[in-house]
Amino acid sequence: MDITILGIESSCDDTSAAVIRNGILLSNVIAGQEVHRKYGGVIPELASRAHQQNIVPVVDTALKEAGVSMDDIDGIAFTRGPGLLGSLVVGVSFAKGLSLAKNIPLLEINHLNGHVLSHFIDVPEKETPHPEFPFICLLVSGGNSQIILAKGPEDMEIIGETIDDAAGEAFDKCAKIMGLPYPGGPVIDKLAKEGDPSKSRFAKPSVDELNYSFSGLKTSFLYFLKKEMAANPSFIEENKNDLCASLQATVTEILMNKLIKASKQYGITQIAIGGGVSANSGLRNAVEKEGIKRGWKTYIPEFRFTTDNAAMIAMAGHYKYINKDFSRLDVSPEARNNF
Ligand code: KG4
Repeated sequence: MDITILGIESSCDDTSAAVIRNGILLSNVIAGQEVHRKYGGVIPELASRAHQQNIVPVVDTALKEAGVSMDDIDGIAFTRGPGLLGSLVVGVSFAKGLSLAKNIPLLEINHLNGHVLSHFIDVPEKETPHPEFPFICLLVSGGNSQIILAKGPEDMEIIGETIDDAAGEAFDKCAKIMGLPYPGGPVIDKLAKEGDPSKSRFAKPSVDELNYSFSGLKTSFLYFLKKEMAANPSFIEENKNDLCASLQATVTEILMNKLIKASKQYGITQIAIGGGVSANSGLRNAVEKEGIKRGWKTYIPEFRFTTDNAAMIAMAGHYKYINKDFSRLDVSPEARNNF
């Protein structure tokens, strides 16, 4: 019997809907929100309103692109959290309404599990290698920086995480300091390709265990620039590419050090990455390079599955549906990762 899952994602500033049948992607529609760009960061109130505007056309388009109707859908998977509460409420309420109207089971998904399970999405006419459990996934985005030990589709343990800023925040905040547009990560990635990473060095944190810290990097970057700008007001303009290359190399090194440590500590050599920052070319290259050196089997996601998307939510829903792990209608969104 076919299993067809509709996925709905609204945890931050992307409204997304996707349809997956038997683990194979039929559609994945994402509406980004331009409204935040001029503020240099996501404004929660504006994100909620944009989700309200986008959710109906996005779901409708995802169904049409998949060539299915609601009568073909077996389960509705939605992001319960973590994320922005006002954004989550839109997706959760929409999923509930649809579930009630069409009498289709609800499947609540943890956004982080979704990112990890994005490695199991099959795409028509393309062989995609999937990790085997247990594997380690470095999950890095604008809101998260975690090392996750994935023991099964619904059995995941966070073995390391940031104690302050996320890796994506480090990119976005440093980009803002340099006057670059939001989100800063992709812009830094692009400029870094033309720069020399050895030109500058920024503070690398010393944090216990497998945890991360990125707020010190932002501060050290700020003070470094203040000093240089006092001597030469055009310093940023003249050294933008080198600054981006150095910053990217520093973030990558911080991320890789703990990832290598985790692999050694758990004796696991299947290594995956996910989340918006996993689109970063410096990080992708470093994972591949270390992988060859250390005999890892590495899993680097397609670009479209790195940032927030509903395909990964539908994929996680597929596993929950198989386990008949359905949600109640009184389920409520969770801003934090505590469910
Ligand atoms: O997963 P995601 O879409 O959602 C959030 O959790 O916000 O990740 C967005 C983050 C932003 O911080 C953005 O700057 C970063 O991912 N990002 C990148 C790249 N593409 C997106 N960071 C570094 N290099 C990239 N190529």
